[in-house]
Amino acid sequence: MRGAVLALLALTSCGRPSPEAQLDPEACVSCHPAHVQSWRGSMHAHAADDPLFVAMNAAAVQSGQVEPDFCVSCHAPVALRLGETTDGTDLDEVDPSLRGVTCAFCHQLDGVEGDANGEVSWAHDGVMRGGIADPMRSVQHRSAYSPLLDRNATESSDACGACHDVRLPDGLHLERTYAEWDATIFATDGAARQSCAHCHLPGRPGVVAPGGPERVVHDHAMPGVDVALVDWPERDAQRAAIQDLLDRTLTAELCVSPAAGATEISLTLENVAAGHDVPSGASHDRRMWVEVRGRRGGEVVYDSGVIADGERLDALVDPDLVALHDVATTRDGSVSHSIFDAVDLEERALVGAPDPLVPHARTTRWNVAGAVLDQVDVRVRLRPVGLDVLDHHIDAGRLDADLRAEMPTFDLGSTVLSWSGPAGCVR
Ligand code: HEC
Ligand code: HEC
Ligand code: HEC
Ligand code: HEC
Ligand code: HEC
Repeated sequence: MRGAVLALLALTSCGRPSPEAQLDPEACVSCHPAHVQSWRGSMHAHAADDPLFVAMNAAAVQSGQVEPDFCVSCHAPVALRLGETTDGTDLDEVDPSLRGVTCAFCHQLDGVEGDANGEVSWAHDGVMRGGIADPMRSVQHRSAYSPLLDRNATESSDACGACHDVRLPDGLHLERTYAEWDATIFATDGAARQSCAHCHLPGRPGVVAPGGPERVVHDHAMPGVDVALVDWPERDAQRAAIQDLLDRTLTAELCVSPAAGATEISLTLENVAAGHDVPSGASHDRRMWVEVRGRRGGEVVYDSGVIADGERLDALVDPDLVALHDVATTRDGSVSHSIFDAVDLEERALVGAPDPLVPHARTTRWNVAGAVLDQVDVRVRLRPVGLDVLDHHIDAGRLDADLRAEMPTFDLGSTVLSWSGPAGCVR
């Protein structure tokens, strides 16, 4: 209720509602309904409500291995800065209007102070910053142009990036989307230049507010990989947008040469559409792998990476398994399930385009001994979060066991390939 009370506070001297009254996304609906609707389905809106976040944050706070506000500094930046929470263990008591990465947070960013861990400054002055240089007057808020919120300016990637890279206290650079982007051709000055917002906030012509001139309206759903496991606005639309994005992210070529002694299969994958590694960010919690099925006369005689929907990837005994996500390990060498306890990282993700002249495709080969295959089917599969990660928190009593069944497994459309017939390649 605290947010609602705040919203009733006095008007500012120039007759516009106070900065406190601009905190609630509800205050934007009347003039920017499309922005609010698409944001509601985004992981930015969900960041502090995500039950896995709540569970993992509780584990982090309890461990004492990170500062109590480490996780909420990015997942609930407004609630933290207003003192509505100190460590995120009471987020359910914080007014919903202050949870997650809200409109008022991004649009009042006024400085970038580092390249990780949410090191940005927040003005909280009621001035909405954006990419429009000549904004129309609004009775709700003052407006201002800021390069931090202009997809055509380099600084906008720095602003996204400061919140998208995680460095643990001992220095491990665990989540590195910004650093990865910085190493791609998209971060260079040239025709290929693409900021985070270029790819993640696609624009279409329209009016930004009623009565305003024709401009470009940017979609705020920002699909990536993560999905809401609980009932959440725009859930189906968000999943469809993720599928659509993933279907276009990689290119794939499957080549098969059957011979009397053995059949050689090779799969070449190239990350063409992401401006960073795939998977990126929380790559260590993702599970991304290649499924292969080889047949002869309709019978499956070889397979790798085949698991059922509710099955854990780490339960599969498969020496040929090709997994493409990073692996974070804890001090005792086991797989990290809680971010804060990671001490080491093995990088396996598919890198983004470094330069048009530098090939960055990756080829993997399987040698199926003693079988002349006449059909081979492959697909790359991606689970936003591994079931072993969920089980870790379910077993500790921090996460509802029913959520396990809600975790999807996406097939990346462009990688679903089937070969049959003479030796050769399909793409
Ligand atoms: C009463 C209508 C109204 C409400 C309510 C409203 N806005 Fe606006 N907003 C406008 C108008 C008008 C513009 C300027 C549009 C233009 O020039 O095309 C604008 C522009 C913006 C811009 C772009 C500024 C720039 O210079 O690039 C942002 C960002 C913004 N609003 C955010 C918000 C947020 C966040 C809320 C909710 C807290 C909100 N607005 C509520 C009317 C409103
Ligand atoms: C993660 C940061 C982020 C969040 C959260 C966010 N925005 Fe934006 N917003 C942007 C960026 C980036 C742009 C694009 C600016 C550009 O390149 O012109 C933008 C643009 C806008 C604009 C200007 C018109 C346009 O489409 O370019 C409005 C209005 C706006 N946002 C309203 C909102 C509202 C309302 C919310 C909450 C419901 C919200 N934004 C949440 C980052 C954010
Ligand atoms: C206050 C820090 C913050 C800022 C600033 C921020 N983000 Fe995020 N972003 C987050 C958090 C936290 C999540 C994850 C929520 C979750 O999955 O629980 C997220 C999620 C996302 C996702 C979805 C990831 C997935 O796996 O599904 C995308 C895409 C994204 N952000 C892009 C952007 C872009 C583009 C910008 C700049 C315009 C931006 N973000 C600015 C904190 C931030
Ligand atoms: C050239 C387009 C492009 C650029 C530039 C780009 N992205 Fe992405 N991004 C994608 C695509 C495509 C995906 C989906 C594939 C994937 O998961 O990596 C994606 C996925 C993501 C995800 C989910 C990653 C995962 O695997 O969990 C996050 C978070 C994200 N982007 C943030 C950012 C940020 C922050 C920047 C800027 C530093 C950025 N992106 C720049 C295209 C882009
Ligand atoms: C620098 C800002 C930042 C910090 C600090 C941070 N996160 Fe995140 N978190 C993000 C972003 C951005 C994403 C989305 C990443 C992606 O899609 O790859 C994310 C995704 C997640 C997710 C969903 C994906 C997954 O890995 O399961 C969980 C859960 C999560 N964070 C928990 C935490 C916990 C717990 C902490 C503290 C130990 C923490 N985060 C600290 C920015 C941050």
